[in-house]
Amino acid sequence: MRSANINIRHSELSWRVLLLATLAFLGIATAIRPLTTSDVEVYSFESFVEDFSKTYASPDEYEHRRGIFCRNRDIVLTHNRQRQQHQHQLGVNEFMDATDDEIPKGYEKASNTRATQAIATQRRLNDEQGLESLVLSPVAELPNSVDWRQKGVVTPVKSQGGCGSCWAFATTAMLESHVAIHAGVLFELSTQELVSCMVNPLQCGGNGGCTGATAELALEFVRQHGMVQEWEFGYQSYHGAAVNCTLQDVESALLRGANKTHYKGAVASIQGWVALPTNNYTTLMNAVAKVGPVAVSVAATPWALYKEGVFESSMKSEKETNVNHLVVLDGYGTDEETGVDYWLVRNSWGPMWGEDGYIRLKRVDPVSLTDPEMDCGMDVTPSDGVACTIDDKGNSVIPPAVKVCGTSGILFDSSLPLGPYLVK
Ligand SMILES: *[C@@H]1O[C@H](CO)[C@@H](O)[C@H](O)[C@H]1NC(C)=O
Ligand SMILES: *[C@@H]1O[C@H](CO)[C@@H](O)[C@H](O)[C@H]1NC(C)=O
Ligand SMILES: *[C@@H]1O[C@H](CO)[C@@H](O)[C@H](O)[C@H]1NC(C)=O
Repeated sequence: MRSANINIRHSELSWRVLLLATLAFLGIATAIRPLTTSDVEVYSFESFVEDFSKTYASPDEYEHRRGIFCRNRDIVLTHNRQRQQHQHQLGVNEFMDATDDEIPKGYEKASNTRATQAIATQRRLNDEQGLESLVLSPVAELPNSVDWRQKGVVTPVKSQGGCGSCWAFATTAMLESHVAIHAGVLFELSTQELVSCMVNPLQCGGNGGCTGATAELALEFVRQHGMVQEWEFGYQSYHGAAVNCTLQDVESALLRGANKTHYKGAVASIQGWVALPTNNYTTLMNAVAKVGPVAVSVAATPWALYKEGVFESSMKSEKETNVNHLVVLDGYGTDEETGVDYWLVRNSWGPMWGEDGYIRLKRVDPVSLTDPEMDCGMDVTPSDGVACTIDDKGNSVIPPAVKVCGTSGILFDSSLPLGPYLVK
């Protein structure tokens, strides 16, 4: 679908291809060097179109995209020239011709405004199981770094494509890891099951399917239906198409005393789930260190051209605080070169984006700040985030702004499954 050698400019750098071919012929292993900032300076729209196999409907569209590409190239160059040594770098990727609105996310503006009351309803669903399993330790007693990939419980990064299904990808990836941690089996579970089969009547984080939903809803859905494997119901909504649910509920054996059904072919399920307290650094650190990967909501629009390094945001602009995407927190650590603490975040924009599909976000313990609110901002459009359009009584309500803390608002809304088990 995409050209494999996107890191070289075919026309201008054919000598490099020749050199690589020669080295390959000689059996010398080598890696293609990514574009440097000075490469980006002369990187043309024509090369971009070829490298990323872009097609546009009309000559007007082609010129329109060229304009966006040039503006984004300026953003990359300006950022990389002005950046401090410890800051992240931007680079060329498939989003060079995309506007902010076109960056794939998974919380979409729903047709109505929404109620924060409904999010409270979601949170209550499994309160009784709460965080009893998670006894909080002081952060200083937690490991210095955690990376669940190193434990072999994380599947490869996927690409949601032009479908607003981040919520389904993040929830599925998180569940895959929790099932692997508890049951020792690393499944590839079906994202399409969530996209196609889960309904979203209260319009939480969107209208369902490719137009958005939340991790909390997805977790509750999985608790009720279990999850089938990827091959049973493969991802078909890459280009944004709605696909009908083809799975059928079947009476399953009495599971841990519960009389319930699961989808035919379900291999794993969960006993419950929990939403962590909002904007709570200690809880999130404990959860990811002790329990497993966590689904976290983030303001991802400024990530579009991210290439590498620890991403920083001031949380002072609307873009930086507009929570609109769901991703998976797979660990944390400290950058060896710069000493900057980071969150290790798995995205669903494919393995070519960022650091092998991941981004590292600056991690700040609020206790270390003179004012703990310094790392917070207001999300004035919570309607792009996790709240619901329709309240319990079926009314639409206008949601008030919410405080979101941590880089890209990572501390605001996090959830994780409890009691994963294999369905037999
Ligand atoms: C999907 O479901 C809708 C509503 O039930 C139906 O009208 C439509 O024909 C279905 N599409 C396919 C491809 O089966
Ligand atoms: C399970 O649920 C079904 C349908 O709700 C009911 O008919 C059946 O008696 C229940 N079985 C048990 C063991 O509770
Ligand atoms: C974080 O959550 C824990 C557990 O609910 C609570 O004890 C603690 O006071 C919270 N911390 C902050 C800063 O809200």
